Amino acid sequence: MPLVSGDELLPRARRGGYAVGAFSIHTPEMVDAVFLAGEALRAPVILQVGRRAVRHSGLEACCGWVRARAAASPVPACLHLDHAQSLEAIVQGIRAGCTSVMYDGSELPFADNIRETAAIARVCRAAGVPLEAEVGRVAGVEDDLSVQEAEARLAGPADCARFVAETGCDALAPAVGNVHGLGGETPRLRLDLLRAVAAAVALPLVLHGGSGLDAGQMAAAAAAGIAKINIDTELRRAFVGGLGAGLAAFGPQDDPAPALAAGALAVRQQVEARIRDFGSAGKA
Ligand code: G3H
Ligand code: ZN
Repeated sequence: MPLVSGDELLPRARRGGYAVGAFSIHTPEMVDAVFLAGEALRAPVILQVGRRAVRHSGLEACCGWVRARAAASPVPACLHLDHAQSLEAIVQGIRAGCTSVMYDGSELPFADNIRETAAIARVCRAAGVPLEAEVGRVAGVEDDLSVQEAEARLAGPADCARFVAETGCDALAPAVGNVHGLGGETPRLRLDLLRAVAAAVALPLVLHGGSGLDAGQMAAAAAAGIAKINIDTELRRAFVGGLGAGLAAFGPQDDPAPALAAGALAVRQQVEARIRDFGSAGKA
């Protein structure tokens, strides 16, 4: 089916108390793996393209893979541009067919983040594409962006309410103790803070840094208002692990397909597990 807008998936998820998985893709095999998992569990899926994938394969190629695979799928899929940091990148994402975009102004002073996000929200509204924005600063490493613990800033409910009122964004990613990437100790979400933000903001909320969070925290976050959960590092590790095992198992050969298929299977299994954690199985 044709790609769907993020607006068709996220408000319903917030009302329903579940989260739609937003899975970062880096190769055609990963795209197919996400769809196979969504189809197996009849779940809506969001496929997101970040800076690393754009650097590796190019925005048009990544969006083309997703658009072509979505056309052959019975489950609703949204194509999301992740962590864009300029109006130019946002416009390029919309022109490439993204049906949801994120502007990440979290490294700016709060007032500047509001100003920049509001300007980009006007462009996105004119284009009919929902805009996700971030308040506070998520720690950890995301693509080429590294945020030290000391720089990380939690998002307060009053700031979140003001940010939404003054920018007109369509979804909000608050920093509530989540961490990008895997490496340090398992992050503990500040569920008390998340609940306070959800009480102040009726929009769909987004959780970045999903890798490494246990199923219990995921379920609690979805129940507290999180409607989209981003997963990247886990999937890259699953793909590379499956690929390596595949190369070892099949020995010297002149066909990469079996090893690539092993990598894709590992990604599909991880995506299915996360769809179950998020409560979005059967919500297609
Ligand atoms: O925007 C992408 C996600 O926030 C990635 O976070 O690598 O910790 O899953 P993750
Ligand atoms: Zn992120």
